[in-house]
Amino acid sequence: MYNSRIIGMGHYVPENIVTNDDLSKLMDTNDQWIQERTGIHERRWAVKGDGNSTFSMGLKAAEKAIKNAKIDKDDIDFIVFATLSPDYYFPGPGVQVQEALGIDTIGALDVRNQCSGFVYGLSVADQFIKTGMYKNILVIGSELQSQGIDISNRGRSISVIFGDGAGAAILSREDDSNKGILSSHLHSEGAYALELAAEAPGMGKRWVTDIIAENNPDDMSYRPYMNGQFVFKNAIRRFSEVIHQGLEANNLQVSDIDMLVPHQANLRISQYIQKKFKLSDDQVFNNIQHYGNTTAASIPIALSEACEQGKIKSGDTVVLAAFGSGFTWGSVIIKW
Ligand code: ACO
Repeated sequence: MYNSRIIGMGHYVPENIVTNDDLSKLMDTNDQWIQERTGIHERRWAVKGDGNSTFSMGLKAAEKAIKNAKIDKDDIDFIVFATLSPDYYFPGPGVQVQEALGIDTIGALDVRNQCSGFVYGLSVADQFIKTGMYKNILVIGSELQSQGIDISNRGRSISVIFGDGAGAAILSREDDSNKGILSSHLHSEGAYALELAAEAPGMGKRWVTDIIAENNPDDMSYRPYMNGQFVFKNAIRRFSEVIHQGLEANNLQVSDIDMLVPHQANLRISQYIQKKFKLSDDQVFNNIQHYGNTTAASIPIALSEACEQGKIKSGDTVVLAAFGSGFTWGSVIIKW
């Protein structure tokens, strides 16, 4: 049995900054409401025609991660790509990355676990490395959400929260069993699938042809829907449970956490968890203030920035925790 370790991180966000004041020109909202409820100051939104897509941002993040990992791209054995906003309905963007990197015909797996996508993807990659099947795996989380949200008054409770961007990690074989990913813990509760969802287009109920045929300007079925307060309550409960589960599995205490990188859902959720676990500001990394909620990209962007800023050192106990649509949630415990 081998262990796996993150040997390089990278991230990329579109250049276009959209402040809360910018949004107040598009819809009936204001900086105070957004900051009080979500902690967000600004987010990046790609501009049509600027070349950004979920795939292209993921590729840019991947190229940085490969550079930081100091490996050759041809040494990558497998790709895992997590997103809810793929360039195509199918195929997923993993194969686009394989082609664009110009690497061998290695496997490319697409993960559809929304805000938990990176944690799920990392866990899958870890298992492939633990069994000895692969040595180096590229794990990407990327989202271009600005094109899919409703930026009118109707969509304001959702659209102010989400942003675009990508993050990537190179996970590599590690012989020291006390280093790298110690464990991962994944969960789902499909009973609440539609509490945070975009129902269409889907083969189940409403395909594109139905939407076109009905031509209904009030049709919101292809826009994200979120039962905000219900999501909030479930998020704080599941974040807490899954962090505890990860610590217990490794005989660790809360005081052993050097850095918690939570999915950047909402600053209020992160602050609630920080307070509940009695963690100091130095023990929790948040950057939602600048990027909004970038769903599957939020943890790898945050982890990449934390590394860049020297906030994570070799030997640190790092906890990743996510909760999102599905509902799905999970944690990954890492000895850095
Ligand atoms: N600007 C101004 N006013 C707004 C806006 C806006 N952007 N959006 C909604 N409002 C109004 C509503 O219309 C409502 O007005 P009313 O009282 O006259 O009816 C009022 O603000 C309060 O609306 P609520 O939806 O009750 O606002 P709430 O306090 O619940 O905050 C929020 C909404 C921020 C979404 C909150 O429910 C929340 O934090 N939920 C957690 C879910 C979350 O953060 N999800 C992130 C994405 S999911 C994930 O990553 C897991």
